[in-house]
Amino acid sequence: MEALKGVRILDMTHVQAGPTCSQLLAWMGADVIKFEPPHGDATRGQLRDVPNADSLYFTMLNCNKRSITVNMKSAEGRQVFVDLVKICDIVMENFGPGVLDRLGFTWHKIHEINPKIVMGSIKGFGSSGPYADFKAYENVAQAMGGAMSTTGMPDGPPFVTGAQIGDSGTGLHLAIGLLAALHQANRTGQGQYVEVAMMDGVMNLCRVKFRDHQRLTRQTLPEYSVPTSQGMGDVPRAGNDSGGGQLGNAIHCKPHGANDWLYVVVQEAVWEGLANRIGGEGLVKDPRFAKIADRRKNQNEMWKLITDFAKGYTKREFMAILNPLDVPCGPIMSTEDLATDEHIRGRDMWVELDHPQRGKWWNVGMPIKLSASPAKIERSPTLGEHTDEVLKEVLKYDENKINSLKQAGAFSASPKKAA
Ligand SMILES: CC(C)(COP(=O)(O)OP(=O)(O)OC[C@H]1O[C@@H](n2cnc3c(N)ncnc32)[C@H](O)[C@@H]1OP(=O)(O)O)[C@@H](O)C(=O)NCCC(=O)NCCS
Repeated sequence: MEALKGVRILDMTHVQAGPTCSQLLAWMGADVIKFEPPHGDATRGQLRDVPNADSLYFTMLNCNKRSITVNMKSAEGRQVFVDLVKICDIVMENFGPGVLDRLGFTWHKIHEINPKIVMGSIKGFGSSGPYADFKAYENVAQAMGGAMSTTGMPDGPPFVTGAQIGDSGTGLHLAIGLLAALHQANRTGQGQYVEVAMMDGVMNLCRVKFRDHQRLTRQTLPEYSVPTSQGMGDVPRAGNDSGGGQLGNAIHCKPHGANDWLYVVVQEAVWEGLANRIGGEGLVKDPRFAKIADRRKNQNEMWKLITDFAKGYTKREFMAILNPLDVPCGPIMSTEDLATDEHIRGRDMWVELDHPQRGKWWNVGMPIKLSASPAKIERSPTLGEHTDEVLKEVLKYDENKINSLKQAGAFSASPKKAA
């Protein structure tokens, strides 16, 4: 049985941060009802690659959900919303600041309608503090949560990371909060409001940089390959340094293209074997690298020696040399490498799906593996595909009621006047 079977979610989320959370919950078996405005989640039409088909932006973040369109700017649409709130376990949204309040639905109001419901909200900066009124997208959160100032090289511009830590990372945080609050609601009968700010989520993911921030008040950061000094204040960008207690770096390999790199961690325990393989007895005995403190101090020379050795090998060949020495390492894998990787396919992390508008396409699979409840990945819904089904089966509305709601414009963009 699916782990979240029987949990019903009213999912008002849009774009990436919210949908990434509700998709995970759907993959764990929740009945996720994607509640869309009549024109749909804006991402359905963004970055389209197939004319008139839902974009990959939408399809890759909205699998296993049912779609219902409701016009919340009509009184009838708001009544449908209220009826759903009464029978759902979770309601979730990631609108801009104040949007739900303007529609008349504060957390206080929603809690009044259904005291057991758990409400999840993602905001750029949360509902309190000087930034509360600002909207946010991925890179705004990366900029303001500490990720950009610590990514890149010290003498170059700050960089965003490709991993969507602001959006998808915040969605993961929300999923944890929702499941905890749901567990509590099941014991106490009382729901609660779960808020995750994207800025907070990014800061949480930058936790080790704040470790270094405080260390700088007392010392330099000897493991950094770039210069640091006690009291310098800001944690510097440090390229591809490992960020942990062990030294690490990306090593360029043959044929020296954009992704011909191997990330190598020179773990303390493996230095002797590694040194012996790349430089023989002379390097093992070299005092510049004898102890980890020496290797930290002289790490740029050490990386140069390793890079010189790697020049004759591809990243996979170099990896094959390092694996028997127990050196932790991994090739920098391109999207094409991953999409064709046997390991990834074997773990259902690149999954082929079919879609009525776009035909065959691929999604990244479910990264959380439950032994008794494996995810069964199904395509995303077309806009309003399940409106009638939800009205009949979930809300138990009869034909007459559905027709009069339709006439009143509860599900359409421009409310029609009743004849
Ligand atoms: C992402 C974001 C910047 C997009 O901004 P936006 O496109 O202007 O959308 P908003 O969420 O501010 O507003 C949505 C509008 O649609 C309307 N709407 C939403 N659902 C509706 C429905 N079912 N029926 C009718 N109208 C609806 C809202 O009432 C609102 O209209 P208003 O501006 O008149 O109040 C913003 O939603 C945001 O900051 N979200 C929180 C942070 C976040 O999640 N960001 C990451 C996104 S990946």
